[in-house]
Amino acid sequence: IHMKQASRFSKLKQDGIKISMLTCYDYPSAKIQDACGIDIIFVGDSLATNVLGYAHQNDLNLQEMRHHVRAVARGIEHAYLLADIPYAASRDLTSIMDATEQLRQDGVDGVKVEGFKPDVFKALAASAVDGWAHLGFTPQLIEKPSMQAKDSESAEQLVAECIQLEAAGAVGIILELVPTAVAQRVSQSLNIPVIGIGAGLNCDGQVQVWHDLIGLETRVYKHAFRQCDAHAAQTQAVKAYIRLIADAASDEA
Ligand code: KIV
Ligand code: NA
Repeated sequence: IHMKQASRFSKLKQDGIKISMLTCYDYPSAKIQDACGIDIIFVGDSLATNVLGYAHQNDLNLQEMRHHVRAVARGIEHAYLLADIPYAASRDLTSIMDATEQLRQDGVDGVKVEGFKPDVFKALAASAVDGWAHLGFTPQLIEKPSMQAKDSESAEQLVAECIQLEAAGAVGIILELVPTAVAQRVSQSLNIPVIGIGAGLNCDGQVQVWHDLIGLETRVYKHAFRQCDAHAAQTQAVKAYIRLIADAASDEA
């Protein structure tokens, strides 16, 4: 049975305990993250670029998202499972709710929807699935990554929108690329948790892209908490393997 459990994140916020969230796209990574005790495992639509090789996350369709959500769900024992509603399924309220129901069947606890859409969060609040908002820089809707809410007017607007989304029933808000002080103000204005990425460390939690955490790509973002160099480790493994079979062949000859 599916039970809404996002209120536990508001409780963590109340108790001053930071929430950890990572993107995840496959079964083995989900098992690692879950065993480590990560709070939220998130199948982001960055699946498109990070794993499927598409040029843009908006190239992802719902069936592809569902395929990976099911793989990740099979690797989870404890963590909360969140998934993006792909751009392709975000046309209107009906298509978002239809996608939400399909993702619920795949095992998600919550879905994330980009942009200021109070009607969507009202509908999600009445459904079996939690609604998570995403404001600041929203990759589905804004073309180039850039800092948002930099002047006081747009900062005021962001705070006002977040308050309205909480009132509409959003259980948490992802804030991407906003100034530290603005993210802190949003967090202080809400009871629901604010999960930041490129938004400073004064949020109620952080989200990182798996590839950036483990260094699976050679790129290094300013806001990445890179902890290892998986690209170098995998490159070394392949080179060592090629040498190994070459040497084994010459040993046998
Ligand atoms: O898809 C994604 O990776 C995201 C970020 C906020 C982590 O939405
Ligand atoms: Na996303």
